[in-house]
Amino acid sequence: MYKLTEEGLKYLKKGLPEINLVKKLKERELKFADAKKLENFNIALQWAKKNNWIKIEKGILKLTEKGEKATKEKYKIEELLNKVAKNELSEEEVRILSKRNLIKKEKEIRMERKEILNLTPELLKTGLWREVKFKKYNVEVPGKKIYPGKKHPLNLIIEKIREIFVEMGFKEINGPLIETAFWDMDSMFIPQDHPAREIQDTFYLSGKGDLPDKDLVDKVREIQEKGGKTGSIGWRIKWNPEIARQLLLRTHTTAVTYRKFARGIEIPSKYFCIGRVFRNEEADSTHLPEFHQAEGFIAAEGLNLRSLMGFIKEFYSKIGIEKIKFKFAYNPYTEPSLEAFGYSEKMKRWIELINSGIFRPEALAPYNIKVPVIAWGLAVERLAMFVFEKKSIKEILGHTCDLKDLRQYDILKVEKW
Ligand code: PHE
Repeated sequence: MYKLTEEGLKYLKKGLPEINLVKKLKERELKFADAKKLENFNIALQWAKKNNWIKIEKGILKLTEKGEKATKEKYKIEELLNKVAKNELSEEEVRILSKRNLIKKEKEIRMERKEILNLTPELLKTGLWREVKFKKYNVEVPGKKIYPGKKHPLNLIIEKIREIFVEMGFKEINGPLIETAFWDMDSMFIPQDHPAREIQDTFYLSGKGDLPDKDLVDKVREIQEKGGKTGSIGWRIKWNPEIARQLLLRTHTTAVTYRKFARGIEIPSKYFCIGRVFRNEEADSTHLPEFHQAEGFIAAEGLNLRSLMGFIKEFYSKIGIEKIKFKFAYNPYTEPSLEAFGYSEKMKRWIELINSGIFRPEALAPYNIKVPVIAWGLAVERLAMFVFEKKSIKEILGHTCDLKDLRQYDILKVEKW
């Protein structure tokens, strides 16, 4: 048994494309360019030419004499399409229709139509939907993965840090990336011969910046050289303003804290800063020449080391880091200084999280700050490594981040904060 293919069925209902074309051309001639837009035009053209029904003159499609008569006579293919259902086709007729792919053996058609998954407008229009078998939906097949837009993990951490500080009553401050050595170092009692000032640690820029007003510069000079009225003897080296004017990429956000000190702070007060810093360091799994620091300080009567440790514990517990260990450290501007480490249960190791301390009197006197100031600075990328369990900073900052990773990190884990 032969049955009409989808194409055959369509032509039976709508007419053959070449006949439809002839009918159109009988109404009026058509520009080739316009005719092209007709449905099934290529098929129509092919058969109408074969039958010698049309000609093209100067881009215009016209009927030939034979074409004029075409619709008056019976068109063989049309007749044959009508005969399919009655099963009266001769072998020759089967050949003609098969060649044009208008009929197929019933079995083949069933095979072809077996796998249909969706009801399409074509199936509805041609009525073929009655003949096809629809494939059952398998609702257990995993769907295609969709990656919605997500914030970069580093930004998530930065936002979280900001949220915690604000929630704890801190105000945000900011400062320039390009600094003078004065604000980055001298202002906080870092001696001018300190090794961290060397070019292997600091990125210097050509050119010099301006120093702040003379009054402050004189106070800093006095403290640096002799310790001022703090009881300290100072660094005992001649302070050179030219070294202080040197431009550099800020090595820490403590420069921002000191600009704030110079503008004046209320007592008590709490401030924080989050920003990029630069250090001329070899890149390795925990270091890059640039990264972000989150810095903060609290100035208030009665603060001590306990307050500092308490603050650090409180801060990290808000991120879900409970196991904290402290170690004494050294900074030229804080005394005592503390480093804190957090234990990562997942990675089974202690990770350095924060550097902190209580500012030395020499680092506060030029700003007329008479109460204790506890302060800290943390590397944001380190914290991100901790939270996202990454072994390398390169997976957190910059073009070395793995895009696949960024697309599919578990946002819920972070959101449970
Ligand atoms: N500036 C220190 C650093 O870069 C952090 C710090 C800030 C330490 C304030 C003590 C006080 O590591």
